[in-house]
Formats: sequence, C-alpha cells, structure tokens
Amino acid sequence: MIKIEVKTGKPYTVKIGNGIINNAGEEAKALGLDGRILIISDDNVAALYIEKVKLSFESAGFEVLSFVIPHGEESKSAENLIAILNFAAENALSRTDTFVALGGGVVGDLCGFAAAVYMRGTNFIQLPTTLLAAVDSSVGGKTAIDLDAGKNLAGAFYQPKLVLCDTKTLDTLPDEEFSNGMAEVIKYGMFCNKELLDILTEGNADIEEIIARCVEIKARVVEADEFDKGERMFLNFGHTVAHAVEALSGYKTPHGSAVAIGMAVITKACTAKGVCPSEVLDVLLPLLEKYNLPHVCPYDIEEVYNVTLKDKKNAHGTITLVLPTAKGKSKLEKCDYNKLKEIITLGLK
Ligand code: NAD
Ligand code: GLY
Repeated sequence: MIKIEVKTGKPYTVKIGNGIINNAGEEAKALGLDGRILIISDDNVAALYIEKVKLSFESAGFEVLSFVIPHGEESKSAENLIAILNFAAENALSRTDTFVALGGGVVGDLCGFAAAVYMRGTNFIQLPTTLLAAVDSSVGGKTAIDLDAGKNLAGAFYQPKLVLCDTKTLDTLPDEEFSNGMAEVIKYGMFCNKELLDILTEGNADIEEIIARCVEIKARVVEADEFDKGERMFLNFGHTVAHAVEALSGYKTPHGSAVAIGMAVITKACTAKGVCPSEVLDVLLPLLEKYNLPHVCPYDIEEVYNVTLKDKKNAHGTITLVLPTAKGKSKLEKCDYNKLKEIITLGLK
C-alpha cells in the first residue's frame, strides 16, 4: 500500500492499494471516528461494492445507512443534494457522524458538498472507484453540484478526512471510463512532469504507481494553493476548451474525453504560436490515441469561443490559460478575449 499525506489546513492521508476498501471500517476507527456512517453511491457502483463496504464498517462497530443515486452527471444535482440532506436529517445524523462517498467523481463531488453543508460540516471519507476520481476528484477538497446554468456552479472547498483508493475496484471499470481517467493522468504529465509522460509513452508502470504519482503531484499543488487562487490553476490544463465541449454536448461528452480534446486544442495553438516546440504535440497526440481518447474538437471556432466567454473562471475581461511550453512544462498566462479567440482559432484549425 502507498500512503500520501495531503498537508492542507486540515491534513489527511490518501492510501492506494489493492483490496483496501475491505478495511475502510478499521481505517475510520483508527482516525477516531465513531457513530454512524452514511454511504452515498450510485446504482452501478452500489451493485458491485456497497455490501462489501457496509460489512467493513459494521464489522468495525459502526451503524451504516446508505443512499443510492442513479449513475451519471445528471445526478450531481440540487435535487439529489437536498434529498441526501433530508435523508440525513430524517435519520437524525449528527455532525460527528460520517458521510462516505463510494464511487466516481459524480458521487464524490455530490457527497462532499452534502458533507460540507450538513449541519455546517460533518466528517467525510472518499472511496474513489474510477481512475478519474482516484487521480483527481477525490483529492483536494473541491466539491460541487451542477446548476441549470452550468457545471460545478455551487460547491465548497471541503477536504475529506481520508481517501482510500482501492485499485481492485478499477477491474470492473468500463474501458471508456478508464480512458477518461487517463486523460487526467496525461494532464499531470503535460503540465508538470516529463517523467510521467515518458512512463506513459513507454507503458512500463503499473496503475498503482501511476495513481500515486498523480496524487503526489495533486497533493503538492493543493497544499500550495488550497483555495484556487494561483498555482492550483495548473490543474486546469486543457479545461477551458473542455468545459466548452462538455457544455456544447449537453454534458453528454464525459469530462475526461473533453479534457483530452481541450489539451490537444491548446497544445496545437501553442505549437502554432511558437510557445512550445512541436515535440510536445508529438508526445501528446499518440498518448491520447494510445488511451482511446479523442483529440479533434467536434465544434466550430465561434461555438467554442462563445461558450468559453461564459466560463466561471472568466474574471474582468481576462481568462487564465495554462499554456504548454515544453515536454512536462507549462505556464499560466492571463489572456484577454482577443488572445483567447486567437488561441481557439489556432487550436481548432
Ligand atoms: P462518474 O462518477 O460518472 O463515473 C463514471 C461511470 O463509471 C458511472 O457510470 C459510474 O457508475 C461508473 N463506475 C464508477 N466506478 C465504477 C467501477 N469501479 N466499476 C464499474 N463502474 C463504475 O464519472 P467520473 O469520471 O469518475 O467523474 C466525473 C465527475 O468528476 C464530473 O462531474 C467532474 O466534474 C468531476 N470532477 C471533479 C473534480 C474535483 O476536483 N472535484 C476533478 C475532476 C472531475
Ligand atoms: N480538478 C481541479 C482541481 O482540483 O483544482
């Protein structure tokens, strides 16, 4: 098992290993948690793992409740948030009880936000079961729901008490979802880690090691900028265009696939502008293909530009973009709308 400490305001440990959700109850007890557990999961994941997780907590002396939502992005909704809060209140859960997210990023973001606001904050544990959740969404404390006006528009920074990433659960993950997680893995390599790009290109690391490398990077970035004021923006490499692609598809394009397209667009633009050498694109495109990820944007320049202008990360007429500058290197740059348009135009040509 690999352990990574995340030294945020309230520090916690991420543990990565095969079969470790079976030990979730003892791990929670070792943290001093007691009382009741509310497991939030989606129907796909619950069918596969909820009994195992319940048994683990019950064997450690906890009383366990569960709340299962339908799978999919539509479930990251205000309706489900209120339903979870009502369920917790009807069952008289207290602030010393614990919410447990068992699932991918949808469950993790929703459960985390519910934990952040229930009685102004209750205990929260992440049990990520997708590669994307393991390498990205379960770590760092960004929690959210989607609103009609867009994704992740209501949320909170709320760190979990513990993250247990059981690599065995990835055995049942559909290939497409594995690919979506690989998009975020490639993102880490692209913005700051040449070695990770080499490992992915050569294909000689196991998934536990790859997850650990990504979590290590994310932990260091989040420690430096827990509340997303500066350095954390590097984690948004490829995300400006990705958010536009997700919105234009009516949120049918999965986040990981959209990030793959977004990374390709920004890297093509930076190559064309001479911001980065062409070898960066020569590394990125084969990697996206290797992991069955798309790299061609199905929307035109005007469509992408207009949606990008509405991105919540737009502030006072500028948007901060993460621009690749070399293999495994990038920089933040504030762009006005003309520069944004130029980049989108070059990237989509
Ligand atoms: P997801 O949670 O929708 O899971 C993808 C699919 O895989 C679902 O159908 C789910 O039921 C299924 N699944 C999950 N684990 C499984 C398993 N082990 N075996 C079989 N099926 C399994 O999607 P995701 O890609 O994990 O997360 C996407 C969400 O994460 C988006 O809402 C995105 O905005 C959010 N996100 C948040 C952050 C953050 O920092 N909080 C970062 C990145 C993405
Ligand atoms: N996934 C982006 C962040 O955690 O900041």
